[in-house]
Amino acid sequence: MISEISTIRWSDGVVEILDQRLLPHRVKYLRLRTARQVAKAIRDMAIRGAPAIGVAAAMGIALTAYHSKAKTREKILEQLRRSCEVLGSSRPTAVNLFWALDRMMKTAESSESVEEMRSRLVEEALRIMREDIEANRKIGENGARLIEDGDRILTHCNAGALATAGYGTALGVIRAAHAQGKKVIVYACETRPKLQGARLTAWELLRDGIPVKLITDNMAAFLMQRGEVDKVIVGADRILAKTGHVINKIGTLCHAICAKHHGIPFLVAAPTSTIDFKSGLEDVVIEERDPREVLYIGGKRIAPEGVEAWNPAFDITPPELVTCIITERGVYRPEELKGLDSAALSGE
Ligand code: MRU
Repeated sequence: MISEISTIRWSDGVVEILDQRLLPHRVKYLRLRTARQVAKAIRDMAIRGAPAIGVAAAMGIALTAYHSKAKTREKILEQLRRSCEVLGSSRPTAVNLFWALDRMMKTAESSESVEEMRSRLVEEALRIMREDIEANRKIGENGARLIEDGDRILTHCNAGALATAGYGTALGVIRAAHAQGKKVIVYACETRPKLQGARLTAWELLRDGIPVKLITDNMAAFLMQRGEVDKVIVGADRILAKTGHVINKIGTLCHAICAKHHGIPFLVAAPTSTIDFKSGLEDVVIEERDPREVLYIGGKRIAPEGVEAWNPAFDITPPELVTCIITERGVYRPEELKGLDSAALSGE
């Protein structure tokens, strides 16, 4: 079972991260001791997926506190702020990263001594990790109600256990439905250019014995046209409460447009830590990654020398294409998000 594999764990001042770049061929953990190393692991996508990035960032801050030799509260706070900057500049789009850093800094600032700060920051990072798994299980429960026996579900990228602290969001819904005895079939889109669908989603679902068929991204429209998709379920990196826009892996928008055209429900599964209550569309930074990710596959160049490539990592799906958003607190239509109380949702 995938639940036995941890994406990330804390072990006496070391953060162990499952190196997702090597999957599905090798299971290997990186052992990280500094916030800078964690930031690099996030940037290089050794760990990826919005909730997992949030947990990693929290643990990066915990590492700084744990290993700090600072004698004064002011000094350690200064070190923590520097770590926040380093971690905050690793990947710009997933809001969970900034949400986690914010929560860690609030914990630091409300601590009275260096010692208190050290222990509370490690505890807080572990709490963020545990809460993510609990939220995903709730998302699974809430979402499984929407899944019918026999559903053929298309998903994109990897919104599974590997993208979170465990269980997954979109795949959590699928896992929960499968555990209830519903017979579901998953179409996993390979997700160019980093192939999270082919490498990670296929691996996760196979390990759990959930029927999965891999397709290339450009096959999804034809599959829908043939009436072979009952639902699309994806995760999210950021959901704008003000407008209901869903920011997720590049290619999501294509599936949403196709789903609308064919009258197929388009479901988004995400914890409330992915909901951005502050930003408008103009504030969202879509990460652009190294063009070589498009020009090469598996280390082999496939495009001619001299050609340029564009490599945005995410796209923006407008609310009119989204049927509902499944969170640990309930299921919402995109336009309902702006009426939610962010403080109540985050348990503050
Ligand atoms: O670039 P990635 O692999 O970090 O992108 C991940 C996604 O887009 C996921 O769908 C999203 O983070 C949700 S994960 C539960």
